[in-house]
Amino acid sequence: MDLGQHLLLGLLVSVVIHTGRVSTAEFNVVIVQPRNAEYKWTDTSLAHVTMDQVEPAVQLAIRSVGEMGMLGQHNFTTHTVDSECSHYMTLVRLVDLYYKANVRPDVLIGPTCTYAVGHAGRLASHWAVPIISAGGQPSALRNKTGGYHGEYKTLTRMGVTYNKMANVVVELLWKYNWKRVALVHYDARNQQNDCKYGAQAIKEKLDRIRSNTTLDERVPAGKDPIDLVLDKSYDKDSNLSYDNFLVELAERARVVITCTPISDLQEMMRAAKNRGMTDGRFVFIAIDPEFEGMYYGTHLWKTGPVGLWPLNRKNNAKDVSKSYRGRKGDRCIWVGNWNNGTMANTEYAEGPDGVSSVVFTGSPVSKMVIPNNGSILDVRQSLTVLVKINGSVNGNGTIFSYDGSGMELRQQDGKGLSARFVRRDGHFLKQVKKDDVLTPDEWNYIGVSYDYRTGIAKLWHDGKEVAGESIGIVDLRTQGDITVGEQFKGRITCLQVYNYAMDDSQIEAAKDACEDRKDEFVDSCDEEELLEAFRSVLAITLRKPATEEFKDFVKKLEDRGVKENHYVTAYHDSMVLFATALNETIAAGANPADLKENGSLILKNMWNRTFQGAGKDNISIDELGDRDTDYTIVEMDKESGNFKPFWDYMGFTKTLKQVNPNQTMDWPGATPPDPEPCGLRGSNGVPPTEDCPSKSLT
Ligand SMILES: *[C@@H]1O[C@H](CO)[C@@H](O)[C@H](O)[C@H]1NC(C)=O
Ligand SMILES: *[C@@H]1O[C@H](CO)[C@@H](O)[C@H](O)[C@H]1NC(C)=O
Ligand SMILES: *[C@@H]1O[C@H](CO)[C@@H](O)[C@H](O)[C@H]1NC(C)=O
Ligand SMILES: *[C@@H]1O[C@H](CO)[C@@H](O)[C@H](O)[C@H]1NC(C)=O
Ligand SMILES: *[C@@H]1O[C@H](CO)[C@@H](O)[C@H](O)[C@H]1NC(C)=O
Ligand SMILES: *[C@@H]1O[C@H](CO)[C@@H](O)[C@H](O)[C@H]1NC(C)=O
Ligand SMILES: *[C@@H]1O[C@H](CO)[C@@H](O)[C@H](O)[C@H]1NC(C)=O
Ligand SMILES: *[C@@H]1O[C@H](CO)[C@@H](O)[C@H](O)[C@H]1NC(C)=O
Ligand SMILES: *[C@@H]1O[C@H](CO)[C@@H](O)[C@H](O)[C@H]1NC(C)=O
Ligand SMILES: *[C@@H]1O[C@H](CO)[C@@H](O)[C@H](O)[C@H]1NC(C)=O
Ligand SMILES: *[C@@H]1O[C@H](CO)[C@@H](O)[C@H](O)[C@H]1NC(C)=O
Ligand SMILES: *[C@@H]1O[C@H](CO)[C@@H](O)[C@H](O)[C@H]1NC(C)=O
Repeated sequence: MDLGQHLLLGLLVSVVIHTGRVSTAEFNVVIVQPRNAEYKWTDTSLAHVTMDQVEPAVQLAIRSVGEMGMLGQHNFTTHTVDSECSHYMTLVRLVDLYYKANVRPDVLIGPTCTYAVGHAGRLASHWAVPIISAGGQPSALRNKTGGYHGEYKTLTRMGVTYNKMANVVVELLWKYNWKRVALVHYDARNQQNDCKYGAQAIKEKLDRIRSNTTLDERVPAGKDPIDLVLDKSYDKDSNLSYDNFLVELAERARVVITCTPISDLQEMMRAAKNRGMTDGRFVFIAIDPEFEGMYYGTHLWKTGPVGLWPLNRKNNAKDVSKSYRGRKGDRCIWVGNWNNGTMANTEYAEGPDGVSSVVFTGSPVSKMVIPNNGSILDVRQSLTVLVKINGSVNGNGTIFSYDGSGMELRQQDGKGLSARFVRRDGHFLKQVKKDDVLTPDEWNYIGVSYDYRTGIAKLWHDGKEVAGESIGIVDLRTQGDITVGEQFKGRITCLQVYNYAMDDSQIEAAKDACEDRKDEFVDSCDEEELLEAFRSVLAITLRKPATEEFKDFVKKLEDRGVKENHYVTAYHDSMVLFATALNETIAAGANPADLKENGSLILKNMWNRTFQGAGKDNISIDELGDRDTDYTIVEMDKESGNFKPFWDYMGFTKTLKQVNPNQTMDWPGATPPDPEPCGLRGSNGVPPTEDCPSKSLT
């Protein structure tokens, strides 16, 4: 229908209402999100939550509000727009939808990529259409009157916003009376980087508290303003010197807020341990840049492989990896995993760096088989496989594969590299491929990784990422035996398997893991020390509802092939919020046709309220349309090596609540770090004293 007919229909509907007859109106719900996880657009995970994950969540919401009778005589028609995580594509596709397809949106749900939210928000504001996003975290998007003519004035933010995250940080600091803090964050320059905005929001929040002017951001009775005494950012080109940073930190504060990639946090904690700063005097408050489970699992401190086959003359098919089995005095005890393989029809030849390698002939009978007894080689979720190959020109063959048509890595037509991903039940997911990347007849250090937290699979060559694609958040088919080199013609050496997804720095560091000195048994305490160091970390991550209704929702998503994550849930809840507000606006006497022309009235019923989302517990939207998100503060459980929830921060009440009142926090120094530390001495003109003689801790 064209615009004229559309207006006519609006007129008719309003006439119908005035004569008191039953009326119906059709509301256009426009879902905006990337259709494919085109990897090149972004460095964060949110772009990888694709349309095929969020659309079922919106449909689920439409069905449930329909069943509740909330739609009355009206109905929702959904349309989808591929934003490609690009502000340009978002803009032109929305304009085309309006002017070419004659679909006037009545609500926009999405997108999530920051710049795309900006542009969609401007259009929505101009059209007077509510827009609800699970992304758009930067604090600038909160201002509904500023910018150009209130460019975001119809934007509701249903996801994580950094302003709210800053509130949790401050609540936590006040809980323990920590008054002086340091901040360190990673800045991925010119990219849509989370940590930069997160750090910005914390700084702004501390400033507002200090200025003591905004009513709800005053210093509460009995608390003090919080001073930011050290503020460091670093990027790829200006590597952070952890030692220098920690020296500065020790001089000034006992509390540091960090927002960094995992490998950097590991390095920082290792350096802190070496400087004696993990004895309980310091606390590292870590913010999960993606808010998607970074602080769950053992990957933070686990550094070694679950399988390491040097594949040379000396080691044959032997697995020299090992597992930590406890401590004896100051020695850490390790036992071999011994998932030794067997070779068939192979030879040895010269390898890279003067070490030997294994030759495979290219026939199906020339291969190595590694038995998988369902223990550590069944990595199932996140994984990294690294290996060095010298493949033949036009070679076509398996480098590494899990039997039973499981996950597989191949040389393809000489120069191509491909990985096949298969769900645990055998359902084929995707092939991730890169052409023209291998150099035949030369040594290539290659790899494949999959990150269960983000659903992204990547291919690696010479320590650099060469392909990346979303395959969804799934358990992989890794239960079969492992076959190496079947139908592969060429040489293979140094095969490594890890049960976590490595980043580029970790892959670079693992390049020499098979060097001779390293395949000797060393009872190093590296992993155990890192685990110990992580006891000084408190991490802030998202809280998930604990209700039966939420479990049911997760199940319903799974039935539609979607794994729950906070973006997906936010799309669902966005639809529920709009439907609830629309219902109330109409119930209060508004004419549906008028609401389709100008959604401002609906917006009034969307903000400064609570409603029930997927978990059927209270979600609160504040007076400027930002969700009061719930968070969980987790601490390391030293027995299991996993983080466990300690504090819940309820956005609805804006307070910290202990998850289990019987639990006590495991402070490495038995008590929380001192709120008035010696860190005060020697700075701010306060001289050193007897009890605090030195400024640093070396
Ligand atoms: C929704 O309502 C419109 C207008 O009443 C009608 O034309 C359309 O067929 C309805 N769609 C569905 C899916 O019921
Ligand atoms: C609003 O929803 C309630 C059920 O929650 C329903 O009874 C009522 O008819 C709805 N009102 C309109 C105007 O659709
Ligand atoms: C929509 O209505 C609001 C007030 O209800 C008004 O301020 C705004 O200008 C209107 N917008 C459009 C595009 O008509
Ligand atoms: C929004 O921006 C305007 C102008 O840019 C500024 O005057 C106003 O204080 C801002 N409001 C908030 C709540 O930050
Ligand atoms: C903050 O402002 C309130 C009200 O103006 C005042 O009572 C309080 O003392 C101030 N607090 C600080 C720490 O300055
Ligand atoms: C930062 O570290 C990387 C990798 O370790 C190195 O290649 C690079 O030269 C370093 N940059 C600086 C400025 O030190
Ligand atoms: C694997 O090889 C090592 C070294 O030869 C040997 O000690 C170990 O018993 C073997 N393990 C198995 C399960 O065969
Ligand atoms: C097999 O699995 C068990 C754990 O179930 C483990 O202890 C054992 O060492 C594994 N490896 C081998 C080679 O048998
Ligand atoms: C490699 O395998 C593919 C199919 O997987 C086939 O199309 C191609 O011709 C093969 N190349 C060579 C050189 O055998
Ligand atoms: C790679 O292997 C081929 C034989 O398959 C050999 O001729 C060549 O020298 C090897 N390249 C290197 C760099 O070792
Ligand atoms: C928010 O709602 C409360 C009542 O629930 C009301 O007192 C308050 O004035 C509202 N705030 C705004 C900014 O509309
Ligand atoms: C806490 O301890 C009390 C008494 O030992 C017990 O009754 C209660 O169930 C415990 N609560 C939790 C959440 O474990």
